[in-house]
Amino acid sequence: MKVAIFGAGTMGSGIAQIFAAKGHTALMYASSVASAQRHKDNLDKSLQKRVDKGRMSQEDKDALMANVLVEEKSAAADADLVIECVKEDMETKKVLLNELDAICKPETIFASNTSSLSITEMGQGLKHHLIGMHFFNPVPSMKLVEVIRGIHTTDETFQFVYNLSKELGKEPVEVAESPGFVVNKLLIPMINDAISLVEKHAASIEDIDKSMQFGANHPMGPLALGDLIGLDVCLAIMNTLYEESGDSKYRPTYLLKKMVRGGLLGRKTGKGFYDYSKK
Ligand code: 3HC
Repeated sequence: MKVAIFGAGTMGSGIAQIFAAKGHTALMYASSVASAQRHKDNLDKSLQKRVDKGRMSQEDKDALMANVLVEEKSAAADADLVIECVKEDMETKKVLLNELDAICKPETIFASNTSSLSITEMGQGLKHHLIGMHFFNPVPSMKLVEVIRGIHTTDETFQFVYNLSKELGKEPVEVAESPGFVVNKLLIPMINDAISLVEKHAASIEDIDKSMQFGANHPMGPLALGDLIGLDVCLAIMNTLYEESGDSKYRPTYLLKKMVRGGLLGRKTGKGFYDYSKK
């Protein structure tokens, strides 16, 4: 199968990796061919580290990377599946999908990896069927895929994406469209609450995380998880939950907004609740 993945950040690169690992052709797209090539090089380096640590064989890594291609956008025309994972902004996603709508063959299935936005709104006016195919970070190790039906998503498209998720070794769940779907509706408000505990000086950052690790058996604390996801992504999700529900319990904390405004986005910028610049 040929899969065109638009947006080569943390999620896009991870998605390209898992498709390529199963023998599919994964086209990587970013803002430019040069930028996509840089992301492909980063993926190559991170896999080489796994090889060097003995966690992956050189042959498997080479075979995987041979399936990852960087091409002009026109090469997506005969893709079987397009997955968009660009910036979490409705307008940006709509502009891209409309452009692809004109390029891709009629059978191409369109999927969005949005973390909380309306599939129905995003797919409005497209000739292609749109569905939510929501992966989790880090994509290679997180089993879940939320498969989200918009109001116009056909059963055929749903079954294709559900079965494909299983073939990729994932555990798909069927989710009706609603803000944040299931995981982010529950998880991101918890992270937001943890941030409000920081704001109120209820406990130190380390102790808040330690509390949830050792008191609730979470693999990592909520603040470290916010840094992993990206605090900008957490803020975008809180804003969607708040705007769509009108419920004040989803209001983003001021500290979250301030950190995003200050470029403290977590691991990707080297600093969030923790400092990653020296690691
Ligand atoms: N390629 C392939 N497999 C990989 C991989 C890679 N690049 N990186 C990790 N893995 C797999 C491997 O199987 C690895 O085991 P191995 O190295 O022995 O082969 C296994 O994952 C564990 O990897 P790590 O040693 O890095 O894992 P840790 O035990 O330190 O756990 C963690 C790291 C998986 C991040 C764990 O702390 C965790 O589960 N944290 C919670 C993550 C979470 O909640 N994510 C969801 C966020 S919400 C989201 O994404 C939605 C979005 O819309 C916001």
